[in-house]
Amino acid sequence: MLPPVRPRIHPSILSADFVNLEHEVGRIGHADAIHVDVMDNHFVPNLTFGLPMVERLLEVAKRPLDVHLMIEDPDRWAPGYASAGAASVTFHVEAAEDPVRLARTIRAKGAFVGLALKPGTPIDPWLDRIGEFDLILIMTVEPGFGGQSFMTETMPKLRSLADGVEAAGSNLLLQVDGGISTATIPIAASNGANTFVAGSAVFGATDPNAAIEALRASAVPAPE
Ligand code: DX5
Ligand code: ZN
Repeated sequence: MLPPVRPRIHPSILSADFVNLEHEVGRIGHADAIHVDVMDNHFVPNLTFGLPMVERLLEVAKRPLDVHLMIEDPDRWAPGYASAGAASVTFHVEAAEDPVRLARTIRAKGAFVGLALKPGTPIDPWLDRIGEFDLILIMTVEPGFGGQSFMTETMPKLRSLADGVEAAGSNLLLQVDGGISTATIPIAASNGANTFVAGSAVFGATDPNAAIEALRASAVPAPE
């Protein structure tokens, strides 16, 4: 589970040096959690790592792990990440056979559960079921790669989710992932996001902790 701090900055290690991951996670002590992108080269056209790597990261990381599964058949694989001790486990709605059943399974293992939506996937069918999730991830790029440009066309979907969350009095984490920088974070914050994933903006900086603090300071609604 994740502590209630907001806004939250979750650096993505997709942009870190994979050969020196223990060192890299040690450079982001100011992070609220570490975002871990698991890709299977089927759900997305890219490959990273799986459960054994995440288990080892859990041993060495000083911050909670926010696992983003970009994989097929999460119904089969996602519960293992919760059992291993990930603070949150997010799977894609496009890949899951039964998202609500899977969410309940993950929660029963003591982790936060997240539902991720690709840019073209509508949120409307889920607005009356937000209570089944602790986090909803609105992808602001097509999943698969770091360093892409933020898609502003995803903002109306984020806004309608944020309105639904407010109407329900829910304390859901509204996460955005892809193209987040000090330039784009106010746009996402203006549309209700409170949890921000940033890969290249953090690991591309000379001082990753300073980059995290700059993002946190910018995570406020843009002036009208
Ligand atoms: C993309 C991943 C992101 C990625 C973001 O599919 O889910 O977490 O690391 O990278 P940036 O912040 O560089 O867009
Ligand atoms: Zn991600």
